[in-house]
Amino acid sequence: MRKPFVAGNWKMNTDSQSSVNLAGGIASGSSEVAGRGVDIAVFPPFVYLPSVIKALNMANIAVGAQDVYFEQNGAFTGEISVSMLKDVGCTYALCGHSERRHVIGETDELINKKVAAAISGGLLPVLCVGELLEERKASQTNEVVTRQVQNGLAGLSVEKVSAVTIAYEPVWAIGTGLTATPEQAQQAHELVRKLLAEMYDDQLAEEIRILYGGSVKPENAAELMRQQDVDGSLVGGASLKTDDFLAIIQAAL
Ligand code: 13P
Repeated sequence: MRKPFVAGNWKMNTDSQSSVNLAGGIASGSSEVAGRGVDIAVFPPFVYLPSVIKALNMANIAVGAQDVYFEQNGAFTGEISVSMLKDVGCTYALCGHSERRHVIGETDELINKKVAAAISGGLLPVLCVGELLEERKASQTNEVVTRQVQNGLAGLSVEKVSAVTIAYEPVWAIGTGLTATPEQAQQAHELVRKLLAEMYDDQLAEEIRILYGGSVKPENAAELMRQQDVDGSLVGGASLKTDDFLAIIQAAL
């Protein structure tokens, strides 16, 4: 059985005070369930990682970065390495979030290097995949998701891939209030799981967690996560509100 996993991607939001308040509220509101029935993680902006980790005060909540660079150190102005993230206490890193793919222009090749570097350095990558609205309309969802998973994991052994979480986030559902129907989410998740079985083996495919992201809210979280292949949520906007995020955590139980 895959344990549910609920993660909050704070994106470029919060400030030094509100990030600490949010972390503290999540920690106290989830203390009964965190790490037991459900794994929880938050992804604050880089600059607030240390203060958020401190505010979580050893609560059973993991912290991750919203991005990571693949080189170990050196002249890469503005980038943050795996070892820096490990040094401040991160467990996870998002790789290939749709905003990095489509706003910043990251390619599958770059994302693959990030996933590989994260695993080698001991960070758990969350590989984000998902189609644009025009791709869904053109019935290219399966093709796009397949390509992003294959390219994102290229060259990685089955042992390494077991460190990965996949997040299916249809781009048209991110921050738009439009949510994939539970059936649409299940279809994409099933596709990813079957693909993992083909690329690796059945055991790995059964074990890897696949999260859904895209306008997850307290009102729709339970039904989405009830789908067989939906193992949790990667939450954007609603993860910035303590009560909403706590309600989504409850919905995962
Ligand atoms: P929203 O929940 O705001 O749609 O964002 C989803 C997302 O991109 C999480 O990574």
